[in-house]
Amino acid sequence: MTTVTDRPTVLHVEDLSVSYGPVRAVRGVSFALHENECLGVVGANGAGKSSLLAGIAGLVRPSGGRVSLGGTHVTGSRTEDNVRRGLVLVPERRQLFASMSVHDNLLLGSYVRGRDRRVPEELERVEALFPILAERREQRAGTLSGGEQQMLAIGRGLMSFPQVLMVDEPSLGLAPVVVDTVADALRELRRQGLTLLIVEQNVRLAMALADHLLVMEQGVIVSETGAGSALSQEALIAAYLGGTGAGSTEGAPGDASGGMGEEISRSLLQTELSKGEQK
Ligand SMILES: Nc1ncnc2c1ncn2[C@@H]1O[C@H](COP(=O)(O)OP(=O)(O)OP(=O)(O)O)[C@@H](O)[C@H]1O
Ligand SMILES: [Mg+2]
Repeated sequence: MTTVTDRPTVLHVEDLSVSYGPVRAVRGVSFALHENECLGVVGANGAGKSSLLAGIAGLVRPSGGRVSLGGTHVTGSRTEDNVRRGLVLVPERRQLFASMSVHDNLLLGSYVRGRDRRVPEELERVEALFPILAERREQRAGTLSGGEQQMLAIGRGLMSFPQVLMVDEPSLGLAPVVVDTVADALRELRRQGLTLLIVEQNVRLAMALADHLLVMEQGVIVSETGAGSALSQEALIAAYLGGTGAGSTEGAPGDASGGMGEEISRSLLQTELSKGEQK
């Protein structure tokens, strides 16, 4: 049986580091993303997930390492050039143009494509994937609900014709039913052949979507799962609670720094994970 890792590598990240002055947010991260794979990155607040995506997309200049897209070295390229190459980021908290219409936000996604004749077709495809965006075409993006904004942000990313779509926290702040809608759309895109890199704090969602998960803690990958293999619950729990670092709680959620809080968080997380397994 062939697995996703037998397919060609689309994105190759080698020993990537991102620093903000003295803060070393990403420290020597390496992974390969294969054609039509969905790779998930999970980890606690401050683990460095968004910084990893920012370093790949070119929003920040990596302090070390290498990023290649389809064999082309793109490390440190401008974001706009990366988007043109098909390396597209849907950022955390959507970052839409609030006073512009849904339609104009979508068209902005295709800006780098100039007068590409496929733009109207792609617009139709996005509106078919998220019919609510067609209904709200003329509404200002800032007045959409959180879920609609997330759909618009993904739609805008799609309008750039991505080869790899990176989505930072698609479920952030959304009600469970809306999370399901967004998850279904991501699954459908995958079915249509898109390659996805998804950062999520919602472990269940990441497990449900991804072929393969990387667990990030304090800027490094501390654990990973093989395609479809059982996840090491201990590694995940440790990453979320900041428990594997040598005596450090940096990067751990504030209410989970030890004692009773940690016990409660641990049991909540275990419950969450076992629900994920039952799915
Ligand atoms: N622009 C910045 N300037 C300085 N430090 C930053 C900047 N952005 C992030 N950091 C720091 O880098 C570390 C990693 O942050 P990052 O946002 O990448 O984490 P994250 O895993 O995405 O967290 P979250 O789950 O809360 O989104 C944190 O310690 C954060 O304070
Ligand atoms: Mg983040």
